[in-house]
Amino acid sequence: MEEKIKALREQMAGEIAQIAGKEDLAAFWQKHLSKNGSIADLMKGLRDVAKEDRPAVGKVINQFKVQVEEQYQQLRETVEAKELEKRNKSEQVDITMPAKRRESGALHPITLIKQEIVDIFAGMGFEVFEGPEIEDDDHNFTRLNIPKNHPARDMQDTFYVGEDIILRTQTSGGQIRVMDMKKPPIKVLVPGRVFRSDYDATHSPMFHQMEGLVVDKNITLCDLQGMLEKFAQQIFDGDVKTRLRPSYFPFTEPSVEVDVSCFKCGGKGCPLCKHTGWIEVLGAGVVHHSVLENCGIDPQVYSGFAFGIGIERIAMLKYGINNMGLLFENDLRFLNQFKGAN
Ligand code: PHE
Repeated sequence: MEEKIKALREQMAGEIAQIAGKEDLAAFWQKHLSKNGSIADLMKGLRDVAKEDRPAVGKVINQFKVQVEEQYQQLRETVEAKELEKRNKSEQVDITMPAKRRESGALHPITLIKQEIVDIFAGMGFEVFEGPEIEDDDHNFTRLNIPKNHPARDMQDTFYVGEDIILRTQTSGGQIRVMDMKKPPIKVLVPGRVFRSDYDATHSPMFHQMEGLVVDKNITLCDLQGMLEKFAQQIFDGDVKTRLRPSYFPFTEPSVEVDVSCFKCGGKGCPLCKHTGWIEVLGAGVVHHSVLENCGIDPQVYSGFAFGIGIERIAMLKYGINNMGLLFENDLRFLNQFKGAN
């Protein structure tokens, strides 16, 4: 029996040296420590030992079994520790590794200019109102003093949705909607998309306007010029001047085009201002008394002014964009240039 144990011990030492993982360990347990294992076999061999020697030999086998079990236990701990270490290594995150690039978006130049304009006028106490893009003839034309068959309707090529329903050609309809809701004093901005059947380098069938309307007692053209000059100085970041030129809009009287002195050359003349020293930026005027009356506001008591700013035009001037199409093509090479501009 002693011999057998010795032989088994040697065999086990060889096997233990080979154990690399959980499977080997399980096989070892199966082979030696299970019910049908080699140590159980030794126990069964007790039958052949002389009766008086059995307790002593049994004790030796038992001691051997305890030793092997202890060894097995230790081995299990080292194997498990090794496997855990391996798993930890494979799951490790290298925080020094360069991260995946994440492209961030940026605001569109039209949005940037729109926000800038709103900011400037908000500083002067204006509120913002937004009207519908699908508008009726009444708000877009008739109540703005442009009755059916009025030649001024030809100034704006209109998209028709239904008989008297159109895509708004201007944000001026917002003036009517605001005056229907609110009585003076009124100071609002109406930003929005407008639509006209027109398409070339400086026109797009969809573009953006910002309407302004002020109605109160004793409002004059002087107030308009003062306010717009402040606006021009802020949006073009400079000491620009404004000048008013007579113009015509059915819903304002008098009507004016507002020019700013060229912020690029300071008025000396350059390609941007077509060598005139002045750049046309918006249309405006004193609200026509008929428009006030159409909204139930007494023109004997109140007066007002309105202006309409083309947002694309301001963006093109400010950023030096020469083709309006660039603002709508969404070419990333173009848009990326405005990253960080806000
Ligand atoms: N609605 C006019 C246009 O689209 C601009 C404008 C607005 C003019 C307000 C005067 C007053 O051309």
